[in-house]
Amino acid sequence: MIRKPFIAGNWKMNMTAESGAKLIKELAPLVANANCDVALCVPAILIPAMTEAAKGTNIAIGAENVHWAESGAYTGEISCAQLKEYGVKYAIIGHSERRQYFGETDEGVNKRTLAALANGITPIVCVGETLAEREGGVTEKVLDKQLADGLKGVEDVAKVVIAYEPVWASGTGRTATDAQAQETIAYIRKKIGQLFCPKCAEKVIIQYGGSMNAGNCKGLMAQPDIDGGLIGGASLKLDFATIVNFDK
Ligand code: PGA
Repeated sequence: MIRKPFIAGNWKMNMTAESGAKLIKELAPLVANANCDVALCVPAILIPAMTEAAKGTNIAIGAENVHWAESGAYTGEISCAQLKEYGVKYAIIGHSERRQYFGETDEGVNKRTLAALANGITPIVCVGETLAEREGGVTEKVLDKQLADGLKGVEDVAKVVIAYEPVWASGTGRTATDAQAQETIAYIRKKIGQLFCPKCAEKVIIQYGGSMNAGNCKGLMAQPDIDGGLIGGASLKLDFATIVNFDK
């Protein structure tokens, strides 16, 4: 297989240093023999403690966002250097909640993505349509813009992870069907092929995100273009290990 599956958790604004470290200690033996890459993206303030808790395990710690500037007057933001100090390998960028509640734009997503790549941090770039957009038949148009603008200037697209997260399925308990997720992710891969090159697109890890759980992960992961998951709610409990072990 050319693409190694990648299951990442997104803790969002949940957990504390104590509860997070406890969960990581419990998860570690359960995911130790995973055949996929495993990461937990955690609130910035928990990164030092979770890095410590995950030491010696196959769980990588990621961030939930990263800023493009090296340093400066950007109150509330976190730089690549600050993440690298703790060995952070991944950063979620352009999550629909950031776009919806904090006004993040494709231009900002692009700057954050380029900065992460320049610093050796793998960006997990989130794209996805709202319910109104899907029902209005403009899903592909929305994805085209998010991909073209968000990935502008990327030199090696194989270094980017894409998370397809339909907004209507994220944090709502509503999941895309296996076929819906496959169809849209295949479209995303085709579009990346057009924007970059078809061969490069074959190397890009594309995750599905949106109420993926211990029950539906096998069906989703069996789809040929779905290479992994970005897991919100189910990454806050031991169910995350069941998802990581989707192939067993
Ligand atoms: P969910 O969140 O799994 O709770 O739907 C996924 C996400 O928004 O990253």
